Amino acid sequence: MPQKTLSIIKPDAVKKHVIGKILQKFEENGLKIIALKMVHLKKEDAKKFYMVHKDKPFYESLVEFMTSSPVVVQVLEGENAVEKNREIMGATDFKKAKEGTIRKEFATDIEKNAVHGSDSTQNAEIEIEFFFKKENIFSY
Ligand code: CMP
Repeated sequence: MPQKTLSIIKPDAVKKHVIGKILQKFEENGLKIIALKMVHLKKEDAKKFYMVHKDKPFYESLVEFMTSSPVVVQVLEGENAVEKNREIMGATDFKKAKEGTIRKEFATDIEKNAVHGSDSTQNAEIEIEFFFKKENIFSY
């Protein structure tokens, strides 16, 4: 059974003009893009999306960062998509990310780490629903 996961190309990567290169990594690694859009998050959206981190010292800064430019949001589908996407992204801390991963290549900072990906199938469902209506998620 294929799984779905939510991915966000963050402001640092958008401003570096590497949207296409990042989407290519997903496609090359067997993750199908079944929904895609560019959005400029409002503070309230970013706060809600990252609510699990509200008590973390980096929360305010993260909200500022995520609203600093448009982001590109996509639903990825494939076998074991949640875990596979996490492998393709590399570690949250880009210094620990493996060669060939998105974060190794494009992240510059633990916060400005190029991409977000759901960390579980349960959160994937919640995060996909946060951004996409069912009719805007496709099958092909
Ligand atoms: P993400 O996978 O989107 O989940 C939470 C985000 O918080 C993370 O990527 C980073 O962009 C940001 N962040 C900033 N500082 C830290 C930190 N010390 N540990 C984890 N995430 C951090």
